[in-house]
Amino acid sequence: METTLCLIKPDATRRRLAGPILGRLESEGFEVLAIRRLQLREPTARAFYAIHKDRPFYMELIGFMTSGPIYALALRREGAIAYLRQVVGATDPAEAEPGTIRAEHAENKQENCVHASDAPETAVAEIPFFFPLTDLAI
Ligand code: CMP
Repeated sequence: METTLCLIKPDATRRRLAGPILGRLESEGFEVLAIRRLQLREPTARAFYAIHKDRPFYMELIGFMTSGPIYALALRREGAIAYLRQVVGATDPAEAEPGTIRAEHAENKQENCVHASDAPETAVAEIPFFFPLTDLAI
């Protein structure tokens, strides 16, 4: 079993898509180990996306990610990390496989509804941004 981090982003929360996305994740076999609704503040958003700090879209991304509430989810499943990336689809919804969450719901490559950890090292680093590891029955 693996655990990964998923964020339901402000665009999806604003459009009341948190329920449908959560339902889809459960139907794909993910167990919700932990869930929080919160609004990111700038320092946390900057730290979370530090890997992108030199990209031209960084400040716009920080503005977007702090623009409204998000949901953070710790999700457990066999092969959770790779499988969640598959269910979420490509960053740009125009390139996402039909049936993926981004193909179905996302507006553009920034406002793309969800974030999913991209590798085991990333999941281990990202989960504690939102959940103390000691609280998770991983
Ligand atoms: P996410 O999977 O959360 O990882 C980084 C985020 O940066 C990505 O989803 C998008 O929200 C955003 N992003 C990636 N590429 C671009 C881009 N070219 N222009 C604007 N935003 C982007």
